[in-house]
Amino acid sequence: MLKGNINRTFPKVRMRRNRKSNWSRRLVAENYLKISDLILPLFVIDGVNKVQPVASMPGVNRLSIDNLLDTVKNAADYSIPTIAIFPVIEPSLKSDDGSEAIRANNLVCRAINSIKKSIPNIGVMCDVALDPYTTHGHDGILKDGEILNDKTVDILCRQAVLQAEAGCDIIAPSDMMDGRIGSIRSALDSEGFYNTQIMSYAAKYSSSFYGPFRDAVGSSGRLTGDKRTYQMDPRNSQEALHEVALDISEGADMVIVKPGLPYLDILYQVKSSFGIPTFAYQVSGEYSMLLSGIKNDFLPRKECIHESLIAFKRAGADGIITYFAEEVAKHLSKR
Ligand code: PBG
Repeated sequence: MLKGNINRTFPKVRMRRNRKSNWSRRLVAENYLKISDLILPLFVIDGVNKVQPVASMPGVNRLSIDNLLDTVKNAADYSIPTIAIFPVIEPSLKSDDGSEAIRANNLVCRAINSIKKSIPNIGVMCDVALDPYTTHGHDGILKDGEILNDKTVDILCRQAVLQAEAGCDIIAPSDMMDGRIGSIRSALDSEGFYNTQIMSYAAKYSSSFYGPFRDAVGSSGRLTGDKRTYQMDPRNSQEALHEVALDISEGADMVIVKPGLPYLDILYQVKSSFGIPTFAYQVSGEYSMLLSGIKNDFLPRKECIHESLIAFKRAGADGIITYFAEEVAKHLSKR
């Protein structure tokens, strides 16, 4: 922004001068996308040597742990700082109360463990929420049509500790229950995991852009009702600041705004109000939307992907969770 009372007018001022050549545009560029901004989300399934394409997310696969390791190794070679793992749970292991989430040695714990053992130089982040594990597809315990807050938080604390024990570096509660950050922080601390970070999905909206993700983890056909009693109303923005303030005071190290592009205003306000490390999640629906345009040759692939990501940087994101992370890291490392 122009500081002070400077009178700059045409023709003395020509804004196009600084744009006249590539080197000059680079010289005055305000934001850059870097490999260190990227978090790569990955879907893991049980079994050996499995690669299952996700129909609604062309280019994204569910991987068994052996194949997952190759992908994570590749991400680490590109210096992508962190991956986020999402488990695809066998229908027979799902239950009303999602108890598989707190079973030692479950799929996600095995995945975390294998990654930490063979690729120690990449951060591993993991959701805390019950939706992959429940028969009804909700993030919490469902009783008589209500998602029970405090009972759910108790389970989430156990889930977080279990994942930390497996080696998870960053616990990412994505459930939107009230008070969960404080409880999870205490649970982790009392088990000695005071160095385990918490990246809270602090402003997570009840969005229609999560559909392809629910396909990917196999919870879409199951979801009874919607998540509007815990995820935020897309009409609200002040409430997002309240949510973020609560999570910070409860001990969140970093916060997420989710979805991404439709919520850049929220991202901008969160970053400028609190200054805490703030991340955007470019969610599955955003990925699929872009890819549909690209697949139809309506949009140029590389340019549109980069433009969508620089938007997050402009709005103040410290990093972006994006299914394009590998592809973009490849581009950026060639420059
Ligand atoms: C589960 C969870 C969801 C996403 C991340 N964690 C879906 C949901 O809340 O229903 C969405 C991610 C995406 O759409 O890419 N708690």
